Amino acid sequence: MGNGGNRTDNGDAKNRAPGSGPANVGRRAVIAGGAVAAAIAAPAALGVAGAAAQPMNSEGADKEFAGKSVFITGGARGIGLATAKAFAEAGADIALFDVATPSLAHVQYPLASEQDLERARSEIESLGVRCLTFKGDVRDLSAQRTAMEAVAARFGGLDVVVVNAGISQIGRMEEFSSEEISTVFEINVSGAVKTTQAAVSIMQPQNAGRIIYISSALGRMGNELFPVYTSTKWALIGIAKSAALSYGRSNILCNVVAPGLADTPLANNPVVLGRMMPNVENPTFQMVSEMLEPGNPIPVGHVEPEDVANAVKFFASESTSKVTGEVFDVSYGSLARSIA
Ligand SMILES: NC(=O)c1ccc[n+]([C@@H]2O[C@H](COP(=O)([O-])OP(=O)(O)OC[C@H]3O[C@@H](n4cnc5c(N)ncnc54)[C@H](O)[C@@H]3O)[C@@H](O)[C@H]2O)c1
Repeated sequence: MGNGGNRTDNGDAKNRAPGSGPANVGRRAVIAGGAVAAAIAAPAALGVAGAAAQPMNSEGADKEFAGKSVFITGGARGIGLATAKAFAEAGADIALFDVATPSLAHVQYPLASEQDLERARSEIESLGVRCLTFKGDVRDLSAQRTAMEAVAARFGGLDVVVVNAGISQIGRMEEFSSEEISTVFEINVSGAVKTTQAAVSIMQPQNAGRIIYISSALGRMGNELFPVYTSTKWALIGIAKSAALSYGRSNILCNVVAPGLADTPLANNPVVLGRMMPNVENPTFQMVSEMLEPGNPIPVGHVEPEDVANAVKFFASESTSKVTGEVFDVSYGSLARSIA
């Protein structure tokens, strides 16, 4: 995966690294199936947009991910969008799947809007690749299946899926309502399982694929201010390692990126900042970063979404064609003291 040649190779499966795309002929046969043909009609209802007017990108065919397709949940902004741009700059066609609904029940801060999703599509297209967008909720398995089938049909396969959509929740353990607990588990955990289910139903017949999960440094430690969120991020690692075991023989590689505090609206919002610095009036993200920095082994208090994107790209690259079930921390050494 990652050399841009997999769609025109000679089809000799033995010569392809695990997780690499199938031969052109094989893949086209896969996507010609009835299920995909049926799905093609559906995306309008989901809010599919983009890609129609653009030809398959031929410029930059020598780029690392030229000819590849990357599907990203929660791609309208933050880490998802930064990841989309990183892959687009490397030549991949992109699909962004996002709830695009600012006010979601039992979520403490605004999520992305339809305008964010539309803006994200323009930004990706300006990089010279194709971009499909889908307004959908990761809690909805059939919406994800329909979107991925449409992507596979339009782009000629599904090479990489980034399981990124998620919400945070801040507060002490005893403060959360049943609805809040259910919502964060349904999005961060059940949603990730459903993304995996949708992805493997396309990747297994391809006999190739990469699935990259965005957990968190909090998925490797406890945290009294994010107790439920932290639990969901531990669960993601369990999902990824189980998927690595389940689908390795189908050449689907499943790995995890675990970011530390990243400057995105999930963390950089008044609810989170106010709880992290309760004694400061109108705390800023920079103040929180500076507060955390002295506790870290390197003089860094947060990461940028682009730092995370680079790690995701690494797990989709040829360099990791023999790696599955692994966790890559992008967290300024905050886990150097952890036991594993
Ligand atoms: N920002 C951080 O400090 C940080 C740290 C570690 C891990 N993470 C993880 O990174 C991932 C991306 O978060 P981010 O920081 O970019 O946040 P973000 O809020 O900027 O982006 C998350 C995106 O997911 C979308 N989304 C939320 N719920 C959805 C749903 N049910 N269905 C579809 N889309 C949905 C949102 O609309 C938004 O566009 C999350 O899984 C998060 O847990 C973030």
